[in-house]
Amino acid sequence: MQRVVRFFPVVFGFLFLAATSQANSTAEAQQNSGCVRLDRVTASRATSNGIEIRSGAAVMRITALRDDVLRVRVGQAGELPEDASWAVLPASRTATVAATPESSDSAVGFKTAKLRVSVQRNPLAITVTDLDGHVIADQLPGRPIEYHGDAFRAYFKSPQDEHYFALGDKPGPLDRRNEAFVDWNTDAFGWQESTDPIYKSIPFFITFHKGVSAGIFLDNTWRASFDFNKEYRDGYSFGSPGGPLDYYILYGPAPKAVVESWAWLVGTTPLPPLWSLGYQQSRYSYYPEAEVRRIGARLRSERIPADVIWLDIDYQLSNRPFTVDPQRFPHFEQMIKDLKAEHLHTVVITDLHIAHLPNAGYKPYDEGTAGDHFVKNPDGSTYVGSVWPGPAVFPDFTQQASREWWGTLYADFVSKGVAGFWNDMNEPAVFGVASKTMPDDVQHRIDGSGFAARTASHLEIHNVFGMQNSRGTFDGLRKLSPDTRPFVMTRASYAGGQRYAATWTGDNSSTWNHFRQTTPQLLNLGLSGFAMSGADVGGFAGSPQSELLTRWLEVAAFHPIDRDHTAVGTAPQEPWENGTKKDVDLRRRYIEERYRLMPYIYTTTEEMSRTGLPIMRPLFLEFPTDVNGEPFDLSDSNSFLLGPDLLVAQSPYPDETDDYSVALPPVGWYDYWSGAEVDGHAGRKAIDNTAIKQQEVHIHPTIDTVPVFVRAGAIVPEQPLVQSTEQKPDGPLTLRVYPPIKPGDDCHGSLYLDDGVSYAFQKGDFLRVAFTCSVTAHGLTLTVAPRQGSFVPWWNQLSIEVYGQGKAAKSASASAAGASDGARPISARFDAEHHRITAVIPDDGKGLEMQLAY
Ligand code: GLC
Repeated sequence: MQRVVRFFPVVFGFLFLAATSQANSTAEAQQNSGCVRLDRVTASRATSNGIEIRSGAAVMRITALRDDVLRVRVGQAGELPEDASWAVLPASRTATVAATPESSDSAVGFKTAKLRVSVQRNPLAITVTDLDGHVIADQLPGRPIEYHGDAFRAYFKSPQDEHYFALGDKPGPLDRRNEAFVDWNTDAFGWQESTDPIYKSIPFFITFHKGVSAGIFLDNTWRASFDFNKEYRDGYSFGSPGGPLDYYILYGPAPKAVVESWAWLVGTTPLPPLWSLGYQQSRYSYYPEAEVRRIGARLRSERIPADVIWLDIDYQLSNRPFTVDPQRFPHFEQMIKDLKAEHLHTVVITDLHIAHLPNAGYKPYDEGTAGDHFVKNPDGSTYVGSVWPGPAVFPDFTQQASREWWGTLYADFVSKGVAGFWNDMNEPAVFGVASKTMPDDVQHRIDGSGFAARTASHLEIHNVFGMQNSRGTFDGLRKLSPDTRPFVMTRASYAGGQRYAATWTGDNSSTWNHFRQTTPQLLNLGLSGFAMSGADVGGFAGSPQSELLTRWLEVAAFHPIDRDHTAVGTAPQEPWENGTKKDVDLRRRYIEERYRLMPYIYTTTEEMSRTGLPIMRPLFLEFPTDVNGEPFDLSDSNSFLLGPDLLVAQSPYPDETDDYSVALPPVGWYDYWSGAEVDGHAGRKAIDNTAIKQQEVHIHPTIDTVPVFVRAGAIVPEQPLVQSTEQKPDGPLTLRVYPPIKPGDDCHGSLYLDDGVSYAFQKGDFLRVAFTCSVTAHGLTLTVAPRQGSFVPWWNQLSIEVYGQGKAAKSASASAAGASDGARPISARFDAEHHRITAVIPDDGKGLEMQLAY
């Protein structure tokens, strides 16, 4: 194959010519070199939902699962790979729609109601377009796919203004263009911005070209790799050293539609317990019991709102999973109860490495051995690797029976009131070996999950091991406590792993660069399906400067998971440590703001659990194009949206004092803190001289204020301050109304609520309320729709705050929904400092309308 590759210059224009003229002459070279290239169509046949192509001995089947979702499967020896997946939901994998065959002298293909697939016969080229002709995926002519032995690679053209996103937790900028990556779950302590691979493998990426998006998912658990414009400036490729060539193409055109289709394919994060959205306090070395109690008490005495305390490996006896050190934690169960009485949930680590302790009365080892649950060496002996407990054995999580057994290990902790579980080190991490993991040839047994029962090498299973570990945990908790929503946090995972666990970005460092890295990393995780994610706030390795800790705690208040965690041996990192009174006050203030925003955050989280739309969103997800239909400016990877409406404009260089500018999407914005409309809508600054594209705001960074903007036309629900999500708020529900800029523009918001812990919501015990508003030149009308669902909320009044106001209302009135007896006057207060008019009105849940006349 080397001979052929050498003909290929770096620039694709040449590459295509070379590929075309070579197409007929490569067969011989391929055979000599062991390279199989699908270079021309030798036969084809239409199927009911697509097409089957032959190229020499190779077969390729392209099918439409939906009008906008395609699946491509290839087998180099004429047989398609096994039709099974750890990631794709069976109902989605087997979905099908009718396709209309198309054929000409030069090409064969098919069409659905949304897409056209055209396979050029010679040289073989695959082009997917939408019915308007937008190119979604364009594989390289004559070289769309090639094999070298079991290894394969698929090549695609890449316009220079196409951008790439997702691929999980991989560090680096938001846009994956000009980067190359490998999927191999790795315990990456001390990782840096250019480290790859790290903990997770999510072989799914989103393309974005001139406002049109698609998703591509390579469903291959081996050591797959992705190259975006690194090898070829005008091309991207993906491949793997083994396993199936089985990929999916998801059409947008909006990036949101791609993310929702991705959720359709692999599932969403289930609705988490409400408490997991609260502030969480962790540290590697919270022991003994008195120290844990001290932390809990201090959270309360400092009035830092909080919901969770985490126990790391130190609570265990000699680091053995599913034990408790009786010296360090003599009253473990009582401690958990006492914390719970303070509304603090306990999450404990339960690593997968079971201590290798024959004949020592260690239940996980004894039961696992008796049940033949551990991973084996090729000679049939049990594989032993060293991790925290010393020599350890590893449950074979690809085996259904072993996952089920693993799930039962949680019974004792669940009965003691432990609220959540942490599956760490599940890449799996192994100490003292260069590979940092199990040998490639250890044997896993696959059964169930749609696969044929068989033995698989670690090369195949490595990247799904952590996902199957967290699956065993999640499913076990579902059985042990059927009416409680589990909270599981995993470090390693694979595509679709969000069905079982939340995640975090592993062992980051207490540096400004890591703080900065958090935004693109969490954004790409969200686009990859892991919407419930966070970073160790303040950094894991090392100790942050006090200003860094303050700023990190401020911004993390707007992240999906807000968990302060650090390594053993570092300086204390709780919000009240390492800072002046001003620092502590600021840290508290932002955590408090998170709790005020909880109705909005929970509403966003519930939407995420249904649709897959992330909690934390890149700007282009909400605003793929500007008012002129031009693609959104992607150069800012430091700003993000919390839910649909709040834009957090973090400094690109948070350690510097320089001013910076942020280009806001051109829909009108309000300053969250002052309530004022940003810079006057009419005063928008043109970024280029031809058109008003984006609204640029100039920011002077201070430690006091994280710049947060609210989209005009948003209605954001908030609640009175509480110290934990379990505390019943005292007072009205606040509706922050941000009027649209122009009469007629959309204005809406919503609220979702339930008991926060159980599955009663699935039986109708939830609350859903929709809010809309409309403006005229002379006033504003807010409509609160009647409540849906049977859940009875804590408030009986609404505090309606209308922002962007420069003077008091001339009059204010309210009426019950659909009331015929007219509106009654209400009092409305003007607050110049916050640019708002506030009216407090009773809310019986039946719907109401409020009018303000300016
Ligand atoms: C790993 C985890 C870290 C944890 C430590 C001890 O390094 O990533 O979060 O504190 O192990 O369990």
